[in-house]
Amino acid sequence: MSTIVVVGAQWGDEGKGKVVDCLSARADMVVRFNGGANAGHTIVVAREEYVLHLVPSGAVREDAACVIGNGCVVDAGLLLEEYDDLKRRGIDLTDRLFVSGFAHLVLPHHKAADGALEDSSSAPIGTTRRGIGPAYCDKYARYGVRVEDLLDDRDLRAKLEAAYAYRARWTGSGDYPPIDEVYGQLAEEGKRLAPFIVDTSLLINGYIADGKNVLFEGAQGSLLDVDFGTYPFVTSSNPVAPFAAIGSGVGLDRLDYALGVVKAYLTRVGEGPFPTELTDSTGEYLRERGYEYGRSTGRPRRCGWLDLVPLRLAARVNGLHGAVVSKLDVLDELEEIPVCTAYRLRGKIFGEMPLPVALIAEAEPVYETLPGWKTDTSGITSWDDLPKKAQAYLRFIEEGCGVPVVAISVGQRRDQIIWLEEVF
Ligand code: GDP
Ligand code: IMO
Ligand code: MG
Repeated sequence: MSTIVVVGAQWGDEGKGKVVDCLSARADMVVRFNGGANAGHTIVVAREEYVLHLVPSGAVREDAACVIGNGCVVDAGLLLEEYDDLKRRGIDLTDRLFVSGFAHLVLPHHKAADGALEDSSSAPIGTTRRGIGPAYCDKYARYGVRVEDLLDDRDLRAKLEAAYAYRARWTGSGDYPPIDEVYGQLAEEGKRLAPFIVDTSLLINGYIADGKNVLFEGAQGSLLDVDFGTYPFVTSSNPVAPFAAIGSGVGLDRLDYALGVVKAYLTRVGEGPFPTELTDSTGEYLRERGYEYGRSTGRPRRCGWLDLVPLRLAARVNGLHGAVVSKLDVLDELEEIPVCTAYRLRGKIFGEMPLPVALIAEAEPVYETLPGWKTDTSGITSWDDLPKKAQAYLRFIEEGCGVPVVAISVGQRRDQIIWLEEVF
């Protein structure tokens, strides 16, 4: 038996979908444990591209069970759309999709509130407008509607009314979709989803007890974590590895290995500080070469150099055992590659994130510039065949954040990954 948690070590979009898909070849089950349809995880198989928002990235492997854990927030309509779309493309999840009854629903009024809050804010976060923040707010306020409520029509109506009444107490009645309409739609969606709704904690623990391989798939990234990220420019869940236990209902001793996905440079979607951001033609170059456009919203991603300062934080709060460096090939043609090793801030040097964390907005990156390798790495399949300068870049990352590099991804496809160690 083995289990592994795969998380993003930066601001999301590190290539988790690809890594999870690669490891899923050995997984009996893949579990999403946080976030919702704000995620966009891309998997490329031959000429087919799949972008998954709620369904775990194990879906593309025929025999992996796919679990949406209690730590997620579920937009029932979007989940069904994703299910139908996969079915049309020859991927049938009928007997292998499982949704936690304890997960909370993202309701139409959450999406309306997400958009309205963004539009009226003087400092918008740049959310995906998928209702994630308001849905988690209602969860923690104890006025959420849970997936299990879809199993009982009467209960569903009562929970919906309570959720609407709660929101009206805070914000007035708002411009929210009428409750009758929402109820009717949810009741229909509930009928379709009912066969998938189970006690997923029981199911996952059963798999582990039977000696099967279980992969926990994080969404977003550590710097978007609501506790450890660049608050308030974060998401509303905990994308870090230890949350896999809470977000799926397993004990801490069931998590064997934490694998962080680290993009060889850095991107961010939405607002918030980004000390190594490149707003010049080099940033544009990285965006085009790395095809850095959001998979959920189509927004261009902000691009910049790798930053070891927040990566050290990610290594620590995730308890990373190993790192996959992704998108190394995107840097193939560069003459030289700066890496931020520390911040200069108010006359001092910081190797770790400052307090208050918002100060990073005025941090000046201290760069160490490494030579580029000027070689196409996209077809390379072993460490020894990587250019020496690319090896040096990878070793520099390893030393800079204290986590061993266990794999290198050099392209979108499944076969474009070099494993240095077996981790799962
Ligand atoms: P995720 O949210 O972490 O799963 O990442 P996304 O799917 O949002 O964004 C990563 C993008 O980079 C996708 O288009 C992937 O197909 C692509 N990708 C993943 N790994 C590599 C790689 O090693 N090289 C290149 N060039 N593209 C990659
Ligand atoms: P994956 O799983 C990148 C960002 C949004 C915004 C902030 C809050 O594909 O890596 P939210 O809608 O969650 O309230 O938005 O978080 N964000 C992501 N950025 N990748 C993601 O997911 C993201 N999910 C949310 O852009 O800045
Ligand atoms: Mg993504």
